[in-house]
Amino acid sequence: MTDALRPGQTIGILGGGQLGRMLAVAASRLGLHCHVYDPAEGGPAAEVAARATCAAWDDEAALRAFAEAVDVVTYEFENVPAESLDLIEAIVPIRPNRRALAVSQDRLDEKDFLRDLGLATAPYATVDDAASLDAALERIGTPAILKTRRFGYDGKGQARIMAASDAAAALAEMNGAPAILEGFVEFSHEVSVIGARGTGGAVACFDPGENRHEGGILRETTVPARLSAAQRTDAVLLAAKILTELDYVGVLGVELFVTASGLVVNEIAPRVHNSGHWTQDGCLIDQFEQHIRAVAGWPLGDGARHSDVVMENLIGDDVDRIPEIAGTQAAIHLYGKAEARAGRKMGHVNRLTGPAR
Ligand SMILES: Nc1ncnc2c1ncn2[C@@H]1O[C@H](COP(=O)(O)OP(=O)(O)O)[C@@H](O)[C@H]1O
Ligand SMILES: [Mg+2]
Repeated sequence: MTDALRPGQTIGILGGGQLGRMLAVAASRLGLHCHVYDPAEGGPAAEVAARATCAAWDDEAALRAFAEAVDVVTYEFENVPAESLDLIEAIVPIRPNRRALAVSQDRLDEKDFLRDLGLATAPYATVDDAASLDAALERIGTPAILKTRRFGYDGKGQARIMAASDAAAALAEMNGAPAILEGFVEFSHEVSVIGARGTGGAVACFDPGENRHEGGILRETTVPARLSAAQRTDAVLLAAKILTELDYVGVLGVELFVTASGLVVNEIAPRVHNSGHWTQDGCLIDQFEQHIRAVAGWPLGDGARHSDVVMENLIGDDVDRIPEIAGTQAAIHLYGKAEARAGRKMGHVNRLTGPAR
């Protein structure tokens, strides 16, 4: 374990939401400290981290002090400005690396990257104005989805185009932001693979999970996913291909559509992923510990699944059901958010449904 962090050393985490919170908890079990950097005060991660800096992404003094106080930096939030990362990287390594972040920040770069790797994606075209949207629709047809290239999440920044007559309204929804048109993929269901790669290049993937979304937000992940043995192998191999091509260190989420002609990659997330939360109760080593191990330069752990699991997200008012859920056989994970707004992820519940099949 050359260059591996030792207990007592510190991992810096950019972003202070629930993913950062669960990373900090995992790090603490390994005797590592976390220092969270987030512009918002009192978020889910700061509460459980050894240190927290609340400062803007362009606060150079705060960024420098943060970078000097930690031994490696990782992130749970993809939209940290490039200038902030430049400043940090001059002082301390960032894992996963900048290319992984850049590729997944922009849906067009992401699609180009996947296509160049030989992986199947939805047909796509870049859209900047009405003329390029017309040309894209001409080529791709309908139904299609127009998405902002950057900053979209939980189905935000997307508009469906069922017929050419929807085009103008969809374009207006982009608010002038650069966009990408994607052909609608006829999928039977959606799955994801959570993969990890260590500093030495070793790769380990968790079993694929099957994801059900509601209103663009992940509602439930079930393992095992409905996949043939060949599809399962494909899913893991393509995740490994992405990790290796990016010289990635850490955990990565790959969202996939299952279609009659095979797996189609929807998007990748350069971080721990909501659809991997089942690993907390279905595996000896979960995605959060796996990510911490990787960025700390430790060997990856054994992520073999010991149980079948259903993970349910608690969104908005769902959290009011906690007293009732607490009386059932379920592992409860709450993020400590005070206010339950509509569409806000408040926590999740893992239910074991039997020994691993
Ligand atoms: N090209 C597509 N074809 C069919 N469904 C899609 C397509 N793109 C997105 N979707 C649906 O919308 C959901 C959210 O889109 P996604 O690109 O994953 O954005 P987000 O960043 O919000 O997760 C997907 O999980 C899928 O259900
Ligand atoms: Mg998605």
